[in-house]
Amino acid sequence: MLVLRDISTLQNHLKNLKNNNKIIGFVPTMGALHNGHLSLVKKSISQNDLTVVSIFINPTQFNNIDDLKTYPSDIDMDLKLLRLISDKIIVFNPEPNELYSGDIKLEKFNFNGLDRHMEGEFRGNHFMGVATVVSKLFSFIKADKVYFGEKDFQQLRIIENLIEEKKFKIELIRCETIRSEDGLALSSRNNKLNFSSKKIATNLFKALNFAKKKIHILSTEEIKQKVSENLSNFKEIKLEYFVIADEKNLKPAKYKQTEKYRAFIAAYVSGVRLIDNIKLY
Ligand code: PAJ
Repeated sequence: MLVLRDISTLQNHLKNLKNNNKIIGFVPTMGALHNGHLSLVKKSISQNDLTVVSIFINPTQFNNIDDLKTYPSDIDMDLKLLRLISDKIIVFNPEPNELYSGDIKLEKFNFNGLDRHMEGEFRGNHFMGVATVVSKLFSFIKADKVYFGEKDFQQLRIIENLIEEKKFKIELIRCETIRSEDGLALSSRNNKLNFSSKKIATNLFKALNFAKKKIHILSTEEIKQKVSENLSNFKEIKLEYFVIADEKNLKPAKYKQTEKYRAFIAAYVSGVRLIDNIKLY
């Protein structure tokens, strides 16, 4: 398994592979890899000749400097986990100045309203930062397919939109959310939770399932009200949003049987910000 830190070496390797008609898959990550990330990597390996996994904690998508500083990182463990999966992987692990050519700043994008609610509302320029780094990675790597997790569904839709708007020649493959046995969506941030907080965090998944169970019986407002009441019983949980939205345009909406909706949640559990979502159809 190759581990590369500069763009030109990566591009040289990829050029040779492309000249030999090899199909390239790409999995962008910020490291602290868990089985959620690894499921994307495994899918890519099964569908491509070679998989590029980027491990890069992208400074421009953090709107809180402490969150950036305390973001979990363990590159040695990440490489160990990837080596166990396959040798058909190139890890791209650049320094910020390498990826940003010494100019670490946001680019502006129009997401056609997909960033208006939920994460876009609560995390400032977060998606501008995500789109900035993903666009750079797309241009450098020029992969055939890219793998994104439904765990971050709003991000996934925004990247689908970016691919369309900027006419990137890449196919986005959606990958389902991987959970622990008790339902907690795997996340690098779960490393910051102790055992009892992890248990309490499963209430976010329970809230999403409550919505799925009641969507035909209660109004979206009634569901939101009940979820918020229930979660307020846990002093460790601070709910940021609970939204039922159309899965295409991500607009919060009153439920209609004919459309496809998802329920989205963001909350601080013992001071750690977690997000999750499930489909309601
Ligand atoms: P990161 O949070 O490391 O996630 C990398 C990819 O793994 C994303 O596509 C995310 O949706 C997916 N993922 C995370 N947890 C998952 C789970 N439990 N099940 C399935 N997939 C999961 O998302 C980012 O990094 C960054 O914003 C990035 C796109 C790399 C840009 O910096």
